[in-house]
Amino acid sequence: MQARHQVFAFCRNASQDLRSVRPKSIIENFDVTNQITMRVGLRSLDSAKLDWLIHVSGLLRPVTFSRFNQSSLLEQFQVNAIGPVLTVQAFLPYLAQRSKIVILTSKLGSIKENVSGGSYGYRMSKSALNMAGKSMSEELRPRGKTLFLLHPGFVKTDMTGFRGNINPAESARAMIKIISTKSLRDSGSFFNIDGTKLPW
Ligand SMILES: NC(=O)c1ccc[n+]([C@@H]2O[C@H](COP(=O)([O-])OP(=O)(O)OC[C@H]3O[C@@H](n4cnc5c(N)ncnc54)[C@H](OP(=O)(O)O)[C@@H]3O)[C@@H](O)[C@H]2O)c1
Repeated sequence: MQARHQVFAFCRNASQDLRSVRPKSIIENFDVTNQITMRVGLRSLDSAKLDWLIHVSGLLRPVTFSRFNQSSLLEQFQVNAIGPVLTVQAFLPYLAQRSKIVILTSKLGSIKENVSGGSYGYRMSKSALNMAGKSMSEELRPRGKTLFLLHPGFVKTDMTGFRGNINPAESARAMIKIISTKSLRDSGSFFNIDGTKLPW
């Protein structure tokens, strides 16, 4: 993202970190599982047409085979798999003609890469997200919209208890590079943070 780009940050509650990067606008009370709060938040875009939509929100809760918690599993499906579809639907009228839509998914949603099991709710919901993303990419391609799924790396954030290989700024820089270089012919792919394709 270059300095001239204007960022509209939609979130539930703005963190100090978000405020410190000084986006053009911060729109709070935006819950990706609630279409009413989404519609209210989107009014602040007015007549803006966005070039990029980056869906970041996600939820990781421990659900194991022996401790299979249905309500936790469903909550992760709501945020990780259904939320991104609602987000893309809601933002569609505000996207520029040849815009790019990027949804943060996870390697843990890859069936081929799964060699350890565990994390049932997270893995299952991210796999479902990958399928939803691929479907949306096919439907939006004729409208000139690029949509792909992106694994942001193993990043030191709240989600990982600040364990990881890279920090959020490094991940964000790598993501911006990938989003800048990918185009309609890459739509429907599942990319790793180094720009290579991941297996479903
Ligand atoms: N960190 C990693 O190593 C890693 C690896 C692979 C994939 N990812 C993916 O990358 C994305 C970002 O992860 P992260 O590490 O930054 O996670 P994080 O530190 O846990 O942050 C998750 C964000 O999602 C928001 N969120 C959760 N539920 C929401 C909802 N219903 N509506 C709106 N926002 C909601 C949270 O908002 P609140 O602050 O309001 O709770 C929080 O800002 C996620 O999709 C994650 O699955 C991360």
